Amino acid sequence: MKMEKWRWSSAAHRLLRLCSNPLSDLRCSPKLQNSTPSGVLYRHEGTCEWIRPFIGQQKQHFGQRSHHLWSGNCLGETPGIQNRFFGATATKIERNSKFATLNSNDISYFKEILGEKNVIQDEDTLLSANTDWMHKYRGSSKLLLLPRTTEEVSSILKYCNSRCLAVVPQGGNTGLVGGSVPVFDEVIINVSSMNNVISFDKVSGILVCEAGCILENLISFLDNRGFIMPLDLGAKGSCQIGGNVSTNAGGLRLLRYGSLHGNVLGLEAVLANGEVLDMLGTLRKDNTGYDLKHLFIGSEGSLGIVTKVSILTPPKLSSVNVAFLACKDYFSCQKLLLEAKRKLGEILSAFEFLDEQSMALALSHLEGVRNPLPPSLHNFYVLIETTGSNESYDREKLEAFLLSAMEGGLISDGIVAQDIQQASSVWHIREGLPEALIKAGANYKYDLSLPVEKLYNLVEEMRTRLENLATVVAYGHLGDGNLHLNISAPQYDDAILAQIEPFVYEWTSKNRGSISAEHGLGLMKANKILYSKSPAAVNLMASIKKLLDPNGIVNPYKVLPQSMIH
Ligand code: FAD
Ligand code: MLT
Ligand code: ZN
Repeated sequence: MKMEKWRWSSAAHRLLRLCSNPLSDLRCSPKLQNSTPSGVLYRHEGTCEWIRPFIGQQKQHFGQRSHHLWSGNCLGETPGIQNRFFGATATKIERNSKFATLNSNDISYFKEILGEKNVIQDEDTLLSANTDWMHKYRGSSKLLLLPRTTEEVSSILKYCNSRCLAVVPQGGNTGLVGGSVPVFDEVIINVSSMNNVISFDKVSGILVCEAGCILENLISFLDNRGFIMPLDLGAKGSCQIGGNVSTNAGGLRLLRYGSLHGNVLGLEAVLANGEVLDMLGTLRKDNTGYDLKHLFIGSEGSLGIVTKVSILTPPKLSSVNVAFLACKDYFSCQKLLLEAKRKLGEILSAFEFLDEQSMALALSHLEGVRNPLPPSLHNFYVLIETTGSNESYDREKLEAFLLSAMEGGLISDGIVAQDIQQASSVWHIREGLPEALIKAGANYKYDLSLPVEKLYNLVEEMRTRLENLATVVAYGHLGDGNLHLNISAPQYDDAILAQIEPFVYEWTSKNRGSISAEHGLGLMKANKILYSKSPAAVNLMASIKKLLDPNGIVNPYKVLPQSMIH
């Protein structure tokens, strides 16, 4: 490859070649209209809008969700025992007999406080609310409640606590670890009707809003005011800020703006007994006592329901560039990351990676996707985004970085997007991978934090273990040391699961990683927490859970091992 390739004119030429064979533009794809291409709006040089296509999730309209992946071989029908959805070696959980079952008086009470239309018993709507995004977990709740205010959430919880009725807090239901759906008959409390922006301070960039605001709507709201959300993820068209905070969602911008533990300035939460905890501060600095809001960030609805959030939002910058690069080996990806941090410095806003198997999957299962670096596939791909305020300075920096990376042999091919459509197309490949995996069949999904230099060793070892049983697909937020390890197979199979678990958890623990980088523990990994946390820490968590929710009614069976909280 010649160095000139990276000159803007050469890159443009290459992209023109791609444009004559257009990559997908979800904005125009009628077939995908139902899956709500969301689009992050960027302003590029103050004129053109960058649309990052939304991937893979329908906006939640209760009762309208499709069930094309529903396999019908659910194992979770036995009354009193719930199984993880795939495989006979799945974890069996028993319904906690101390929880009451719903009766007609309960329904009457809820109708009285919420109004008839916010007390949902319709079967189709319940099926959707009982089922997770991956269609791996399904509860059997007979009731979905849609409160509109904090006071209503408080009345619901106070009542449920007094009756010992278990509940599951639900946002956009895009969670990937079975945390957002009931395990048995828990009452579903979905805060999607609490979707107002309360205030926005244009000077400080502090946004205060209700928990049910959809992330994408907040992104649009801020875009009109010259700001952005500090987090962005493929599920933005459906996930809610309350769900994001409750999972401490990471996503595509964490590298630049940090985690929600840093960006959330305050929140309001309702405890299991109905008490409203007002911690909705809007101060950057406040060292008065324990900072209790952090308990709710990432506790996956196990300590109460988040009803309002105050969040620090960064200003929107005018110059965004996206490069999509090929690397011959994982070592080059690592070195490229280090170089990107060194040479791009403050303008680096995303560093994502995917392997050859991921690209093959995207090409087979994502509508309209074409190979951006033809003709053949490369071993690894890296998506780099820069965001800054000076177009020529940013481009110069990126060009210098690319030239030196190419001279150093770190990249073997690549493109720099010349317009929003091209940028969208490469983002679509990366963001579309969760959807592509679902389309490919069974998906064993693991979300791991690992030291970057060791991260891909696990993928290779997994391939050796699985041989031809399944395809190992790896991608993730390399800039954050976050591997998304996915094992894809035509169907769920105990033989496959036995090769993966507990190996994947043991390997992660041995290498001092975390078994949940960003998706949480939910139901899937509630019993696995000790792989990543010490017994003393887990004991303290169980004590906090018991203190805040003595009856254990809020999101039972999730996050912590049941044996520790009874
Ligand atoms: P839900 O799925 O409804 O709930 C998630 C958990 O939070 C549950 O335990 C639930 O009980 C609890 N919860 C929800 N709302 C509240 C509330 N108001 N109060 C208390 N508890 C609540 N995650 C990432 O971190 N990074 C990614 O890049 C990312 N990309 C994704 C891409 C796709 C295509 C999909 C489908 C998912 C992705 N996720 C990602 C996972 C998921 O979208 C996030 O975890 C998201 O933050 C969940 O928000 P939600 O509103 O859908 O919450
Ligand atoms: C992502 O980064 O795409 C999400 O976390 C979802 C996934 O892991 O598949
Ligand atoms: Zn992720």
